[in-house]
Amino acid sequence: MNYADPNKTMVPPPGEARCPAISTQEIIAGDTVPAPEWVRQESYTYLGDEDISADRYISADYAQAEVERMWPRTWQFACREEHIPEVGDYYVYDVGPYSLLVTRVGEDDIRAYFNSCLHRGTKLRHSGTEGHATEFKCPFHAWSWNIDGSCKTVLCDWDFPHAPKEELSLPQAKVATLGGFVFVNMDPDSPSLEDYLGPDALAHFKAWKLEDRYVYCHVKKRIPANWKLNQEAFHEAYHVLATHPQVCPSNADANSQYDTFGDHVNRFISPLGVVSPHLYGKVTEQDIFEQFVIGDPSSLEGAVRQLDEGESARAAMAKLYRKSFEEANHVDLSDVSDSELLDCFSYSVYPNMFVFPGISLPMVYRFLPDRHDHRKSTMEVLFLRPKPTDGSHYETAEMQVLRDDQSFTEADEMAPGFGGILDQDTDNLLLQQEGLEAASKKSLTLGNYQEIRIRHCERSLDRYMAMPPLDVDWRTQQKCGRH
Ligand code: FES
Ligand SMILES: [Fe+2]
Repeated sequence: MNYADPNKTMVPPPGEARCPAISTQEIIAGDTVPAPEWVRQESYTYLGDEDISADRYISADYAQAEVERMWPRTWQFACREEHIPEVGDYYVYDVGPYSLLVTRVGEDDIRAYFNSCLHRGTKLRHSGTEGHATEFKCPFHAWSWNIDGSCKTVLCDWDFPHAPKEELSLPQAKVATLGGFVFVNMDPDSPSLEDYLGPDALAHFKAWKLEDRYVYCHVKKRIPANWKLNQEAFHEAYHVLATHPQVCPSNADANSQYDTFGDHVNRFISPLGVVSPHLYGKVTEQDIFEQFVIGDPSSLEGAVRQLDEGESARAAMAKLYRKSFEEANHVDLSDVSDSELLDCFSYSVYPNMFVFPGISLPMVYRFLPDRHDHRKSTMEVLFLRPKPTDGSHYETAEMQVLRDDQSFTEADEMAPGFGGILDQDTDNLLLQQEGLEAASKKSLTLGNYQEIRIRHCERSLDRYMAMPPLDVDWRTQQKCGRH
């Protein structure tokens, strides 16, 4: 099949053009085990084709406005529930200047306190820490709080008749949990997490059952680019041919599917075990199978075999994956679709969380701005695996922080092939940051279809940037809590 359609005589309206190769849904419809509704859904909306201003990636003032208008109003993934399994466990979630003490107060009660003493403002716990507490005592003058946020001690309270303990509960962000993730939102007037995600994305989240997984590998690395450039490098499969040519034999890149769901969630489905339309006529099914098996992060290298007459690489891969995951996890996957086993499902939850719910490599990315430099950010990768079903102990991974000059391949538990792909992705980013700063053209041009996720996120940002800086009385936040 030709990638370019030589007979195309009519130019479709903006947003309606698609790669003329077989579509993602056509690939999935040919699978041996059919896919569920959340996989088969298509939800693309054309959002315009105007350029995106470079300012939003290179201006310190713009980054400061994001801190005042967007970050405190959006739902953000703070930690996993398994990070704080016991009452009294806490996890400090930091974004820009904000810092929240995400604390388990009861079996089903998680709160997120503003990490700042109500005396003279000292942080109650250092940024980036986690642990267990029976109280939060300020190191400066020993004011302290119970883990339920009520004030425990005001030293020399005779000197503070104007600050009664009963009125000194720690202010809180809103907290919600879904699929084992703990989300926080600092705006008391924000919509619920359910409304923020919308019905489609919420149904998808519930179908994945990610609450049955735990984090077995957590890696963080600083990236020399604005946080939006960092995450937008992962929003499309358009870059695969130039940036990851090694995966093209087994990745349907240009014919990946892109969807938007409401204002805050979007996704792509990038089918695997199928050749890129850019390589049509250049590789055989046997080539696809071998490339996929040898490059697979779960080291299935020994499984390379000669395909049967007429057998597709994708069908062979689905069979192999099903068997290998069934054996590794003692589960029956006979009803799980080929697509869920094989394909790359990438969802982003605005502003900065990516969820990849596929069976073979479920994982999460998080992108955060550097607090002091809008030209830098961090990327975190969290790999999930099934919790043991027999109740046996599992260890939630501690975060490994790579040095700037280290490769992702150096992280423990990181498959070399996958770490190499992350290196390829992030190696472009210094060039992009500096290129935008050096540019004569002060804007970015986006594809209507393949880069819709970038435009969708930038549109979300536009809505928050049109709002005034968030200004909430701290006493209102004392009344927040779990929602
Ligand atoms: S600043 Fe916390 S007790 Fe004084
Ligand atoms: Fe990539």
